[in-house]
Parts: sequence; C-alpha cells; structure tokens
Amino acid sequence: MKHILFAASEGVPFIKTGGLADVVGSLPKCIDREYFDVRVVMPKYPCMRQEAKDRMTFVTSFYMDFNFKSEYVGVMTAEVDGVTFYFIDNESYFGGMRPYGDDTLWEITKFAFFSKAVLSILPAVGFRPELIHCHDWQTGLVPVYLKERFQGNEFYHGIKTVMTIHNLKFQGKWDVKTVKGITGLSDYFFTPDKLEFNKDANLLKGGLVYADAITTVSDTYAEEIKTDFYGEGLNGLLSARKADLRGIVNGIDYDEFNPQTDEYLTYKYNADNFRKEKVKNKRELQKRLNLEQDDRRFMIGIVSRLTDQKGFDLIAYMMDELCSDSVQLVVLGTGEERYENMFRHYDWKYADKVSANIYYSEEMSHKIYAGCDAFLMPSLFEPCGLSQLMALRYGTIPIVRETGGLKDTVEPYNEYESTGTGFSFTNYNAHEMLAAIRYAERIYYDRKREWNKMVDRAMAADFSWHVSARKYQEMYDWLIG
Ligand code: ADP
Ligand code: GLC
Repeated sequence: MKHILFAASEGVPFIKTGGLADVVGSLPKCIDREYFDVRVVMPKYPCMRQEAKDRMTFVTSFYMDFNFKSEYVGVMTAEVDGVTFYFIDNESYFGGMRPYGDDTLWEITKFAFFSKAVLSILPAVGFRPELIHCHDWQTGLVPVYLKERFQGNEFYHGIKTVMTIHNLKFQGKWDVKTVKGITGLSDYFFTPDKLEFNKDANLLKGGLVYADAITTVSDTYAEEIKTDFYGEGLNGLLSARKADLRGIVNGIDYDEFNPQTDEYLTYKYNADNFRKEKVKNKRELQKRLNLEQDDRRFMIGIVSRLTDQKGFDLIAYMMDELCSDSVQLVVLGTGEERYENMFRHYDWKYADKVSANIYYSEEMSHKIYAGCDAFLMPSLFEPCGLSQLMALRYGTIPIVRETGGLKDTVEPYNEYESTGTGFSFTNYNAHEMLAAIRYAERIYYDRKREWNKMVDRAMAADFSWHVSARKYQEMYDWLIG
C-alpha cells in the first residue's frame, strides 16, 4: 500500500470557491484503493457550513513555532466516501467570512502557517505519506519546508512531493525581508534560483523549484505556461523543468454531475430521452428567472467566477449586439464588481432576455447546466475548466475559446463530417466570439437535428476521472518507486 497526502486550501464537500475544490474532493475517491491510501489535508475554516463542521471529530492538538510565536495547531478529521480528510484548526489564521481575503500579506502568512502545519501534524496523526501532492501557491512552501527542516528527521526522510498548478496567475508574492521573517527560512532560500522572483519572495516558485515533479491540469496549459504570454514570469523556470512537468486533464465526479439522478433537477433526463425531457428544465428556468417563456428560444448559460480570466471583457463589449439576436442569457456568478454590475445593467436593459444571478448556488448552477442549450466560456486563459465538462455531461453545448483545457476537452463542430461537441474560436477577440455564438445559433435554429446529434456526442464524451486518475497513479508509482 502506498500512502499519498493531498494538501490544498479547499475541497468539496467542505469548502469551495472554484474548480480546485472539485478536483480535491473528487480525484482521491478515484485513485485505486487497493494500492493507494490517499488522504487530504486542508484548513478548517470557521466559515464552513455547519453541516460540514459537524462531520469532523477532534484528533489531537499541539503547539508549533511559527512567525516568532508558539501557535496552536488543532487537527480534526472526517471521512467522506472512504477518503480521510484532516483539517488544521487555528481560528486566528483561518477565521473570516471567506476562505481567502484581499490582504495579500495576511494570505501569505496564513498559508505559510498551513504549509508548515501540514508537515508538523503527520507524526501526531500517525500517517506517513510516501508522497505529498501539493495544489497551487497556498501549499508552495510544503516542498520547501520539507527540504529545509523536516527531511533531516527520520520520519520525513525520503518523502517525495508533487506540485500541481491549477492557476499560475496566483503565486503568493511579497518582499523578501518580510517573507523571510514570517517563514523563518534562511537567506539561502531567497536567491533567484530558489524563492526570489524579481526581488520578491514567491511561494509558488518555491514549490516549483523543490517539488520532485510538477503537473498542471491539461496538456495544452502545460505547453502554454512555458511561453511568455501564459507563463506569468515563471515560464523560464517551467521550461527549465520541462522534463518534470506534465499535463493531466481534470475529470469531474460523474455521480455528482449526472442529469439522470441529479437531486437539484425537477426534470431528470439522460442521453436517450433528452430530446423531450431536457427542455422542461429550460421552461422551469425561464419561469423562475422571469424570462420570456418559449421552448424554442436559444438559451446560453454562464456559471463562473466573474474575473478577467474568464473573458468577461469580450462579453461586456458584445452584450448589446448579442441581445439584438433571438437569445436568452442566464448568468450565475460573483466576483469583480464591474462585471457584477455589467450583468445587472443588461438584466435591467433586456429584462426578458438577460438574467443576472449575482450569488453562489450549487442548486442554481445545476439548473443552468441542465436547462440551457449552450454554455459560454470565452476564457483568456483556462488551465482546465470544469464548467464546460459539466455542460457536456448535461448535453449543453459549450462555446469556448481554444485555450488550455477548453481546447483539450471541447471538440469543434465540423458540419461536413458531423463531428464535434461544441463551438470554438481562436483569438481573444470579441468579434470572433460573437461569430462563434452566431454560428451556434444558426445550427440550433436551422439544423435542429444536427444540433441534437451534437448533444448526443457531448453526452457520450467521457470526462469522468478514470483515465486521468490512472495517470496520477503512474506518476506516483514512478516517483515512489
Ligand atoms: P475556476 O476554478 O477557474 O473557477 P472551473 O471551471 O475549473 O473554474 O470551476 C468552477 C467551479 O465553480 C464549477 O464547479 C462551477 O460550477 C462552480 N461555480 C463557479 N461560480 C459559481 C456560482 N456562482 N455558483 C455555483 N457554482 C459556481
Ligand atoms: C483553476 C483553473 C481552472 C481549473 C481548476 C481546477 O481554478 O482556473 O481552469 O479547472 O483550477 O483544476
């Protein structure tokens, strides 16, 4: 039996702000239990839902030196579908209304504490992983601390690390002097070949330098991040480590996202009966959102964090023109105020066509994945993207920009060969996006049989974890030996 520990800042069903939580919640379940014991560690945030906290039981507590203080580290545990989760408890670090805040220095302090605690709890909980799988910048210091102070101790000796990049945009950067103070790491670590980055200290970079292997969440993104445009300043390092860097495309939980059994849906359907049943979800959505009730109207959905990454400036630029078409647009998301207000404005301006739902709701997201005809995701960059996979699973045709995981998971429609599962465009350009949407409209309105065949193909595509989980297993085997 091999032992693997996932370290991450969020995970379903305990806390979620985006796709990272879906991956951390669903991938461990899909790794072969006969050979691997995969466990997960994350912070215990007081803002977690009460039901989530009620599942946890206390394991142990101790004090750990951190940032010139002796800090409380509580450990809680819970089991979900046979996977053990550990939670690190310290309310002065993990308190607040949301898991992440806007004060960068505090975020760095919080996750430096977390990274050190991840390693410190292992003897206390009696779990010695052969490999720690770290996710995103919040866990970048795990490989660094392991090398710097833990590996000398016999318990930790030989533990391997993997760093998975879910989003290179966020790196955890602050000035060297301050980070040196907080982390207690010596001068040795703050040189340009280690944590230093344009005179700042960079936590993700630390992880990328010290991890035994690096992965990211699609093949295309693995290539893109070696370039200037997508590399966020780390393209040089990633190119230098290219032999240790690979893309493994994300999957989604096919039990949780299943139109046939989805408890959030009033009208369930499957690949055989979607032609009749799926539209009932659209009807219900139109009614609930006060949109014009018309089965035939082309309905486009968006479920997203409202940030630049997702291409909202293209959408903002084209809203008036798009709304001159026979379409409905249903948006669910929160994020940057200018995009929240942009959608509120168009909801007011085109009340029977646009519905802006500026909040977070699991239930509404499933209703949108099921009820819409198409799903729009014109991202500027997209490491993988899970929303388009959810849309495919529900027979809702993605319209995407060809970048990162969107390129790897959505096959563009080819009307001559009757192949493809979605519509796509290449350049980050609002007119190209509108042309792709209008092409989709034409097929939907004028060639409905073709459209439905595309839905058949979308629903038949398999983005469950089974292929990708095997790739992670191969990598673990290779690293652990
Ligand atoms: P990212 O991780 O960059 O935000 P992904 O496509 O990988 O993008 O994952 C986004 C996840 O968050 C999906 O599960 C999506 O359904 C969910 N999501 C985003 N915004 C909301 C919202 N407002 N309400 C419910 N779910 C949301
Ligand atoms: C990040 C990326 C998204 C990816 C998710 C899970 O949030 O933005 O593309 O799907 O992580 O890996």
